[in-house]
Amino acid sequence: MHKASIFEETSEVIHQEAFEENQFVITLKAPKASKTAKPGEFAFVDCGEQTLLRRPLSYLRTNPNNDTVEFMYKIIGPGLEALSKMTAGDSVKMMGPIGNGFSHDLSKQTPVFIGGGVGIPPVLFLAEYLKENNPEMTPYAFFGSEIPFPFETTESEINIEGLEQSNFATIKDMEEKQIPCRLASLANFKGCYNGYVTELVDTWLSQLNPSEKEKIILYACGPEVMLEAAAKLARNHKLDCQLSLEEFMACAIGGCAGCTVKVSIDEQIAMKRVCVDGPVFDAKAIYPQ
Ligand SMILES: Cc1cc2nc3c(=O)[nH]c(=O)nc-3n(C[C@H](O)[C@H](O)[C@H](O)COP(=O)(O)OP(=O)(O)OC[C@H]3O[C@@H](n4cnc5c(N)ncnc54)[C@H](O)[C@@H]3O)c2cc1C
Ligand code: FES
Repeated sequence: MHKASIFEETSEVIHQEAFEENQFVITLKAPKASKTAKPGEFAFVDCGEQTLLRRPLSYLRTNPNNDTVEFMYKIIGPGLEALSKMTAGDSVKMMGPIGNGFSHDLSKQTPVFIGGGVGIPPVLFLAEYLKENNPEMTPYAFFGSEIPFPFETTESEINIEGLEQSNFATIKDMEEKQIPCRLASLANFKGCYNGYVTELVDTWLSQLNPSEKEKIILYACGPEVMLEAAAKLARNHKLDCQLSLEEFMACAIGGCAGCTVKVSIDEQIAMKRVCVDGPVFDAKAIYPQ
C-alpha cells in the first residue's frame, strides 16, 4: 500500500438499508473511491461529531459507473450507531482506500471464500470482482452467521458436489452472478448447513481430488476463532490461505502502532500494523502452527 494513494473524500449517502440485529448496508456517492478501492482494502469512516475516532469498514462493493461504494456493518457501539442514523443526502467523510488487500491470480486458481458475520464484505467483494474480471473462473463462497444474513437469501440451483441437498441456502447476488455459494449457521436457518462455516468447507474440500485441490486458494475474513479454523483447514489440506484481520484502529495510517499484531516471517517474529501492513496477511504468518 502506498500512503500517497490514500485520500480524504466527502461522500454523500445515497441509500441505507436496515437488516435484522442492527445490521446495515450503506451506499455512498464517492467518485474517487469507487474507481480505486480494491477487495480487502478499507475506509476509515467519520461517523459524525459525537465520535472522536473514525471506524474502519471494508468495502463491500464499488460501482465506478455510478460513482458509488457500499459498506455492510453491524452496530456494536456509538460510532456505527451514529452512521446508521444517516439518511440520503447526508455527508460522510472518509479516508481511503487503505491497506494491502487480497492478492489474487486471475488466471489459474480456484478461489474459495470463507466469510463470517461482518467479515463477509471483503471476501464477497473479491468473489464478485474475480468473477466479473474472469467469467471463466469459478469462485466458491461459503458464509457463516449466527444472526440473519444482511443480504437477500434464496434457494440455489447451482449444484456443489459433495454437499447435502438440504444445504441449499445462498445469497441472491451470488446466485445471480453464477457464483456457487452456501451458508452455514448454528441458528437453524432454513437451508443453511447446521454448524460452523469452516466445517462445511472441510466437508467439501475432503471429497475433491488432488488436481482439483491444487488449484485452490483460500481467502477468509471473520471472527478470530473462524480465522484460526480457516488457517488450520488450509494447513490440513495443504492450501495457500490469506486472512483479513480486524483490530481497533486509532489512526489507520501507520502512525500510532495501536493495531500491531505478531507475525512470523521465515521463523522470525515481527510486529506488523494491521492498518498499513495488512489487513490481509498470509495465514502461515499469523498462525505458524
Ligand atoms: C480493516 C477492518 C475492516 C472492518 N470492516 C468492517 C465491516 O465491513 N463491517 C463491520 O461491521 N465492521 C468492520 N470492522 C470492525 C469495526 O470497525 C469495529 O467493530 C468498530 O469498532 C465498530 O464500531 P462501533 O462504533 O459500532 O463500536 P465501538 O464504539 O468501536 O465499540 C466496539 C466495542 O469495542 C470496544 N472498544 C472500542 N475501542 C477499543 C479499543 N481501542 N480497545 C479495546 N476495546 C475497544 C468498545 O468498548 C465496544 O465494546 C472492521 C475492522 C477493521 C480493522
Ligand atoms: S491504527 Fe495507528 S498504526 Fe494502525
